[in-house]
Amino acid sequence: MPLNIVIGAQWGDEGKGRITDLLAAQADMVVRYSGGDNAGHTVTIGDEVFKLHLIPSGIIHDTANCLIGNGVVVNPKVMLHEMDALAKRGIDVSPACLKLSENAHLITPAHIALDKAREMQRGEGAIGTTLRGIGPAYTDKASRQGIRAGLMANPEELADAIHTHVATHNEVLTKIYGADALDTDAVAAEYAAYAQRLAPYLVDGSILLDEALRDGRSILAEGAQGTLLDIDHGTYPFVTSSSPTAGGALTGLGVGPKQVGQIIGVAKAFTTRVGSGPFPTELSGSIAARLRGTGENPWDEYGTTTGRPRRVGWLDLVILRHAQRINSLTDLALTKLDILSGIPELQVCVAYELDGRRLTHFPTDLNTLARCRPIYQTLPGWHEDIMPIRTFSGLPANAQNYVNFITDQLGIPASIISVGPAREQTISF
Ligand code: GDP
Ligand code: IMO
Ligand code: MG
Repeated sequence: MPLNIVIGAQWGDEGKGRITDLLAAQADMVVRYSGGDNAGHTVTIGDEVFKLHLIPSGIIHDTANCLIGNGVVVNPKVMLHEMDALAKRGIDVSPACLKLSENAHLITPAHIALDKAREMQRGEGAIGTTLRGIGPAYTDKASRQGIRAGLMANPEELADAIHTHVATHNEVLTKIYGADALDTDAVAAEYAAYAQRLAPYLVDGSILLDEALRDGRSILAEGAQGTLLDIDHGTYPFVTSSSPTAGGALTGLGVGPKQVGQIIGVAKAFTTRVGSGPFPTELSGSIAARLRGTGENPWDEYGTTTGRPRRVGWLDLVILRHAQRINSLTDLALTKLDILSGIPELQVCVAYELDGRRLTHFPTDLNTLARCRPIYQTLPGWHEDIMPIRTFSGLPANAQNYVNFITDQLGIPASIISVGPAREQTISF
């Protein structure tokens, strides 16, 4: 059985956690390959809501083993906190169920302090990062001065590495940004304690996955963030610092492309974004308020990690075409179709207008993108509550029409439609 990949097709928060949870029932392993605790993935099972930042959503299934892959940047404090919270809810987070790649990189308090200092310095031009230290951790990795998780198996080397790391970043924090210096010894002691608890979880992730694939086991890769937050293929510089796209799954796990089966693009039935940066179909006013919700419902559009209100807009097929091309999507998982119920007319962006020309490809150059205007097709809405519906043919004709319009435009099937946050609020084909 192959490696199937779940990928965000927009700017994150598409419902990847919810779709991963659904597909995890058929997977032997569920693995994260990129990002860190900037991710916030919600899984709803009955009355229980799980918000996961670092640990793969498959942990909730007792059948699936989980791995945090080498492409992830791991804040050990957050990982342990999440493990403890899950354990309290009766979930097995022992090394038998959860593993951490030794080549994943550690996030430290110095990375978090740098993330904050850089965002402050950017002022008006701030990216709106999650302030979790993600950018500085990947910067250290790329500049070959990061701290790999594997060092947690070697207390002396880890202590040396932390001392050098904090001392180096203290220079930058104090002299460039005027921030406070961190206490090197205190950070080293803190990380020594984390290492003691996390060392038993360390594995060579690539070998583990290779063995699993050779044994015919199925692996589900849970993407974080989304295609438009990709460092190469997103709206740079308003992106994250990793590759959430299909290519990132391979390098972030140490698995070759021949192993890949389905590549499932998760897209909301409309578009959202947290943080700064361009958003061609962004809405304000009453329809925006309607799509965002007031915050009363757990699924309303407020960030899972930061609680920030998400920006909202109409569905953008130019973006989804971009995601399809970059990731070779085989399937679409369309989420939050229920939220569109009751809106009389729905707009779908089918192309952009740029200097009088019709553009069907997404331009990643921000100056070009800023000059693009969405070209909309209007589709009729439906008024019925579709949350209780479980079959495609049971959906109102206009809801079927909306889905068919999207899949026809993209040329890939919607293999899952979700009409609510809970596991069973799903239409599968
Ligand atoms: P992720 O980061 O891609 O995993 O998505 P988030 O969990 O950050 O945000 C998605 C939100 O939408 C969560 O609150 C989910 O519980 C909720 N959700 C997912 N699918 C649906 C759906 O089909 N309908 C509704 N109403 N909520 C959904
Ligand atoms: P999930 O996995 C939505 C956004 C931040 C910011 C930019 C850079 O839940 O979909 P970073 O902290 O990564 O340096 O921030 O990326 N961002 C996300 N937006 N969902 C996410 O994850 C995100 N992870 C990062 O808001 O604009
Ligand atoms: Mg999220």
